[in-house]
Amino acid sequence: MQYPYQIKTLEQYKEEYQKSVDNPEGFWAEIAENFQWRKKWDKVLEWNFIDPKVEWFKGAKLNITENCIDRHLETLGEKPAIIWEPNNPEERTRVVTYSRLHKRVCQVAQMLINNGVKKGDRVCIYMGMVPELAYAVLGCARIGAIHNVIFGGFSSQSIADRLEDSKAEFIITCDGAFRGGKDIPLKSIVDDALIGNKMVKKVIVYTRTRRPVSMIKGRDIWWEDEMDHALFQIEKNNEVSFPAVEMDAEDPLFILYTSGSTGKPKGVVHTTAGYMIWTTYTFVNTFQYQPGDVYFCTADIGWITGHSYIVYGPLAAGATSVMFEGIPTWPDAGRFWDIVDKYKVNILYTAPTAIRSLMAHGLEPLEGKDLSSLKVLGSVGEPINEEAWHWYDEYVGKGRCPIVDTWWQTETGGIMISNLAGVTPAKPSWATLPLPGVQPVLIDEHGQEAHERDETGLLKGNLCIKAPWPGILRTTYGDHERCRKNYFATYPGLYFTGDGALKDEEGNYRITGRVDDVLNVSGHRIGTAEVENAINMHTSVVESAVVGFPHSIKGQGIYAFVINEKKPHDEELAKQDILETVSRIIGPIAKPDKIQFVSGLPKTRSGKIMRRILRKIAEGEMENLGDTTTLLDPAIVNEIKENRL
Ligand code: WT7
Repeated sequence: MQYPYQIKTLEQYKEEYQKSVDNPEGFWAEIAENFQWRKKWDKVLEWNFIDPKVEWFKGAKLNITENCIDRHLETLGEKPAIIWEPNNPEERTRVVTYSRLHKRVCQVAQMLINNGVKKGDRVCIYMGMVPELAYAVLGCARIGAIHNVIFGGFSSQSIADRLEDSKAEFIITCDGAFRGGKDIPLKSIVDDALIGNKMVKKVIVYTRTRRPVSMIKGRDIWWEDEMDHALFQIEKNNEVSFPAVEMDAEDPLFILYTSGSTGKPKGVVHTTAGYMIWTTYTFVNTFQYQPGDVYFCTADIGWITGHSYIVYGPLAAGATSVMFEGIPTWPDAGRFWDIVDKYKVNILYTAPTAIRSLMAHGLEPLEGKDLSSLKVLGSVGEPINEEAWHWYDEYVGKGRCPIVDTWWQTETGGIMISNLAGVTPAKPSWATLPLPGVQPVLIDEHGQEAHERDETGLLKGNLCIKAPWPGILRTTYGDHERCRKNYFATYPGLYFTGDGALKDEEGNYRITGRVDDVLNVSGHRIGTAEVENAINMHTSVVESAVVGFPHSIKGQGIYAFVINEKKPHDEELAKQDILETVSRIIGPIAKPDKIQFVSGLPKTRSGKIMRRILRKIAEGEMENLGDTTTLLDPAIVNEIKENRL
């Protein structure tokens, strides 16, 4: 497959960028010609950021799986789509060719139909990183069911909330998942999530770990049996096919929940055509993928990175991807390098937190590993600090691989600001330039476009986007008003990202981090309000306040200030109980790194917690706490400072 829209030079980038701003409809219509449509669009773009309403390629008909699979069969049928590396390196690798992927996705589609799933139904997917997870996602897309993948690190309570919010009637899960030395009991977690749930009709269980599971008659069924049966139905003369359901360009493709500044995660909704074009275009341009390259994205499909850059973007581009079940540090910290060596990976896309955790193991795990196949390195999820950038450049890329620092969000569907590998210049810890179609703007504290440069020539402000790109979220599931309030109300007429940023005189952007009450822990977004809600559920807790603090590996750690009903006899035990509670309510990923028991919280006279002060204390900045005159009880600040962890 060739990519006529692949940008090759800096000059060309500038031209394309300008075109995308001057004539977005013409620009994207031309790119859309590289995809397969059942029927072309009536109108390329309809939008306003007030309701908000965004419609790309309205009236067009397509199915994204025909673009990701069927259209490649003739030329790439026997080429690997997915090379699967198991958690245990001793276990057998699985190579899934495009034609095998086609067969499996058709089977899943038939299996879903057999179990009563219809176009528009929500299917919750809670699985480990096995190829069947990709089949499940694509099988849903083939019949127009809306998938909602939940990361395997979320608890049953989190699953229950998402099932309820999305009104899902179907679940696809595994008996368990292998991750490093752990075996996570996924089915049993789902069982807990289903206590009291009256909506879910079917739970399909794929066998991975062979741990014993409870299977409820009439509700729980085995993936293997159902897939065999589906195959029997759709196989004729050794050929398997299942006609893809025709989707409108703006039909929802999936829901993915993400934290915000309120207590409840939002179901970000992406639709079909725009998302497909955006993920493919950004994949091909950012990583400069060439036909035949082996690409390895280390993310989990439970997050947006996995949706956009393991499943949809690479497959629509006919790429070969490595999919990894395990973790970077098991059985040892050389695992990524073993994988790069084993499959001759050309493009590696990972997160700063992974780089930092590997850095901490020194250079020994890299010894004897042949990394000469690498051409491009990518980073995503949080600002990459210079130290990690240089380590990645020097020891992994051996100084000869461009590093792309890709800034984007669950809501943006794909990469928004990034250098293009080897095409536009990199600048350590700067995401650099916007992709064509992206029009960023920095807004100052007066709500105006920032225009005053500081003494070093930098503009500073809250990062907003002026106009829609094809991959923008369309709504938050079941609550459009929430979408409006969250993203389009802070600065009327603009999409607000929640991030702060700097801009230099060359137009490069550096993302400085969230400006709302959202933390970025190991590249995962966690709302402080959500963690507080979970802590407050513990019987002995009266109130709590959660803030972030710099963490050498995770980027940000979680610091919780907790008021207990009475002083705990055994502080350590009381902390363990709180951790257990958070783990139960959200999942182990949201466990605070530090819990400090306090007798009060710094509040204004109107009762608002002054997080700014707590943030400073958590960061270790004890002197310049700013204005504390509005505090109801200034003495509490001293107590908190004295007992800081
Ligand atoms: C938030 C989005 C995008 C997929 C993974 C996270 C931060 C992401 C970068 C980067 C600086 C980054 C932002 C953003 N972020 N990439 N390259 N440089 N910050 O997706 O969970 O939706 O989180 O991650 O703060 O708003 P997400």
